[in-house]
Amino acid sequence: MSVALRSNMKLGVLGTGMVGNTIASKLVQLGHDVKMGSRTAGNAKAADWAKANGTHASQGTFGDAASFGEIVFNCTSGMNSLQALGLAGAANLRGKILVDVANALDFSKGMPPSLSVCNTDSLGEQIQRAFPETHVVKALNTVNCGVMVNPSIVPGDHDLFIAGNDAGSKKTVTQLLQQWFGWKSVVDVGDITAARATEMLLPIWVRLMGQLQTPNFNFKIVR
Ligand SMILES: NC(=O)c1ccc[n+]([C@@H]2O[C@H](COP(=O)([O-])OP(=O)(O)OC[C@H]3O[C@@H](n4cnc5c(N)ncnc54)[C@H](OP(=O)(O)O)[C@@H]3O)[C@@H](O)[C@H]2O)c1
Repeated sequence: MSVALRSNMKLGVLGTGMVGNTIASKLVQLGHDVKMGSRTAGNAKAADWAKANGTHASQGTFGDAASFGEIVFNCTSGMNSLQALGLAGAANLRGKILVDVANALDFSKGMPPSLSVCNTDSLGEQIQRAFPETHVVKALNTVNCGVMVNPSIVPGDHDLFIAGNDAGSKKTVTQLLQQWFGWKSVVDVGDITAARATEMLLPIWVRLMGQLQTPNFNFKIVR
């Protein structure tokens, strides 16, 4: 299912953390109407974000944001994404593209985090199974949030990976990433089972961030 991108769309961003804030702010800057969702309608971080981003920015519950968005971004804590999306509601996500940015990082034993799901399953697949009528496209989870919406922070050519079951939805998300966020190379790594691979990049990503002392780097495929 492809969606024709327009210059003023209604978009839902689930998540009030730095990723939700960064993506939602970029979308407002591009001229879209954006609703940020949270567990609670009056969430202070979402209220601050909406206040700072003008009349195109609004806030509500996860359900409000999912219902509002023509396309919805999952920017919730990966360990809690299934609960957050449950609150968003299957009916509000039905027939829509859900761009899944989350990583199921388990910090309960300190740093570095481990993945709570890996190898034979992934968060992207768990979400797709739980919401079979939603088109889950895993994307952006392999870069820091500043790089997500401004890839030129990292000089040179570098790649972004997407995975999902529906070709039309991946085409739409690829166009969105290219036209709105400025990505030059979006690499389709396959159906949603490929989310295992992109989520399992996180252990090396976390190690590299520690060694490089910056989150502003990315992977580049050379062949
Ligand atoms: N930081 C990065 O640059 C980066 C890069 C790539 C991917 N990611 C991924 O992006 C996602 C967002 O990261 P973040 O640091 O911005 O935010 P975060 O702190 O990981 O998540 C914040 C969001 O998760 C929701 N949440 C937390 N516990 C919940 C629960 N028990 N039930 C339902 N919802 C719950 C919060 O709801 P409330 O609004 O109600 O508090 C909030 O909206 C994560 O999955 C992360 O792994 C991050």
